Amino acid sequence: MDFEIHTCERPVSDEERGAVLAAPGFGRTFTDHMVTVRWDEGLGWYDGRLEPYGPISLDPSASVFHYGQECFEGMKAYRQDGGGIALFRPEVNAARFNRSAARLAMPGIPEQTFLRALEILVAQDSDWVPDGAGNSLYLRPLMIATQHELGFTLPSRSYLFVVFASPATAYFGAEGVRPLTVWLSEEYTRAAPGGTGAAKVGGNYAAAFAAQRQGVTEGCDQVVWLDAAEHTWVEEMGGMNVFFVLDEGDGSRPRIVTPPLTDTLLPGVTRDSLLQLAPKLGLDAEERPMSVPQWQQLCAAGKMTEAFACGTAAVIAPIGKVKGAGGKAWTIGDGEPGPVTMRLREELLGIQYGQLPDPSAWVHKVC
Ligand code: COI
Repeated sequence: MDFEIHTCERPVSDEERGAVLAAPGFGRTFTDHMVTVRWDEGLGWYDGRLEPYGPISLDPSASVFHYGQECFEGMKAYRQDGGGIALFRPEVNAARFNRSAARLAMPGIPEQTFLRALEILVAQDSDWVPDGAGNSLYLRPLMIATQHELGFTLPSRSYLFVVFASPATAYFGAEGVRPLTVWLSEEYTRAAPGGTGAAKVGGNYAAAFAAQRQGVTEGCDQVVWLDAAEHTWVEEMGGMNVFFVLDEGDGSRPRIVTPPLTDTLLPGVTRDSLLQLAPKLGLDAEERPMSVPQWQQLCAAGKMTEAFACGTAAVIAPIGKVKGAGGKAWTIGDGEPGPVTMRLREELLGIQYGQLPDPSAWVHKVC
């Protein structure tokens, strides 16, 4: 698809942009442009454009407001050590976006159109990509249903795809890596078999806020979701996957363990990258279920030395403490960021910023 280019006449000043880039935070400021592409049952994808960032006008009857047909992605553009800007495994996000869309009976977007939309936005707004450790340009592709109709017979017959961008620092604060405290959500459920848990759709996050608020009230950073049937098996966290580091203390290699993919948890790009990187760093990697009692017992026995959250926004964030209803609480290892977590983080960030070799060709140069 050819995109029409309509750039801003007066983008923000260098001073204003400089002030944002000095301390970007997460998801608070947006760049000068966005990309939009429309889909209509009769036309397929059409009207691709790069245009000034701004409000989208929609009828109150648009399907997305009522039946929640919306899916999205989270990605980052990184300023490269050797110059230029690159994305990280964007084709994996494109594939997941289309799986999310299919789950909500929305049309898939060709991978080339998805990638091109990201590329033209990043190239146009390249001045907005911050430098500095852990900083990046966060990209948010999304699709919404725009059909003006309240009937609930068939999915919407028109959609809008949008990509916009936001300069970002580390999700869990600019102050560096700090251990998270997490809340076991035993009251609420994120996903059940046959549902939308494996899709990155707004509805999953809407339903998660009540638990997330409960966790924050309990002094925690993030929720840990458990399985819907037994409320025992760990699935994922609020907006990220979870890993455990096991060290049997018998001289065998440390092992990173994460719950296996089912239709109730999101297949994270960072999760997949770490499973592939671990053996290259002398770590065993395993996808296996972990129950809450096992988690607690392994920590008590000193066999689980670390745990961490991972995701595009979160990167890799160590987990220091677990809390749950009825005063349940325990510490993981010594409660501080551990060596395996930090080694994986260093390797992943090194590849993403072009500081380390990229043998799997994960880095996708944009400009
Ligand atoms: C991401 O990591 O990109 C996400 O979409 C998670 C969100 C909670 C910020």
